[in-house]
Amino acid sequence: LADDNSVTIGMILPMTGPSASTGKQEKAGAELYLQQHGDTVAGKTIVLAVKDDTGAADVTKRLAQDLVANDHAAALMGFGLTPLALAAAPIATEAKVPEIVTAAATASITEKSPFIVRTSFTLPQASAPMAQWALNNGVKKVVTIVTDYGPGVDAEKWFGETFEKGGGTIVERIRAPLKNPDFAPFLQRVADDKPDAVFVFVPSGFGSVFMKQFVERGLDKAGVKLIGTGDVTDDDQLADIGDAALGAVTAHHYSAAHDSPENKAFVAAFEKANAGMRPNFMAVAAYDGMDLVYRALEKTKGDASGPALLAAMKGMSWTSPRGPVSIDPETRDIVQNIYVRKVEKTDGALYNVEFATIPDVKDPYKAGK
Ligand code: DHB
Repeated sequence: LADDNSVTIGMILPMTGPSASTGKQEKAGAELYLQQHGDTVAGKTIVLAVKDDTGAADVTKRLAQDLVANDHAAALMGFGLTPLALAAAPIATEAKVPEIVTAAATASITEKSPFIVRTSFTLPQASAPMAQWALNNGVKKVVTIVTDYGPGVDAEKWFGETFEKGGGTIVERIRAPLKNPDFAPFLQRVADDKPDAVFVFVPSGFGSVFMKQFVERGLDKAGVKLIGTGDVTDDDQLADIGDAALGAVTAHHYSAAHDSPENKAFVAAFEKANAGMRPNFMAVAAYDGMDLVYRALEKTKGDASGPALLAAMKGMSWTSPRGPVSIDPETRDIVQNIYVRKVEKTDGALYNVEFATIPDVKDPYKAGK
């Protein structure tokens, strides 16, 4: 239990409900880091307290309050969906405790508290490079389909604006509800529009439903290319999606197939610790969230006060399993490579195989301000 020497990291995740796969991956990523590095850093004992917010923002908020007031958490971490990250922001500000966002990816989140630091990504960071790739590869007419909330709106805007600026045409912009996703009626409209490609954003865990309905509608056979951010071809779901995913081209910051010694070691250790489960982009962001806490504590020589940790995190750079990363000291967002990938079968299993790298991408939403 917590004592004077302990530093509690309060990890708030959807462990149940429609985004439970995010919770499962994130918890496993954070626990792997602890298992590999031990629970002691700069003379402190790290206590990881994982709480289930069920994906409900009022629960996130109550858990954040409890962790700060009763457990004296030195940092809050996790936040599986944008509304959940937003719910904790006023508590982080009030308590002067870092809120490390390891999942939610709406660009504006980091502006909601000066104590928010992010190790996941932003939708503009992945969507703008996807548009550039489409422009360079003969795609002229696109229908966008996004889940109708923060990250989807970001994806629609940054894909669409970049694509149109380069001379492409957005034929139709479709937003599907977050609750009870059924894409079939929207995909019928896509069939009628006959675009060169569909650009899609759905949150982690929803890709399987989308991809299966895309193929059921015969859109792949009709020659409609599937492009998107990498959330739709999530490594957690690729096996379940099956061959329907083959050929999908996406832009993202992490693939389990990323070819580096750090990633090979990460994937092997993760699969060993989790009965063969493959890590996805959520797992790596939680692993990196823990790495960031450890590095910050080393830098402060064990000073776990919120402002000291926050200052230490700003500008931190390291090698993640995803490649080189740093925390932008101005925006507190992660700066990272974005990779263009294609779903292929290698050794009998489906992977997002990276074939192009856009290095050191900052969140373009903040860069343009
Ligand atoms: C968000 C959630 C996801 O599962 C994802 O893949 C991207 C963004 C979000 O709610 O911000």
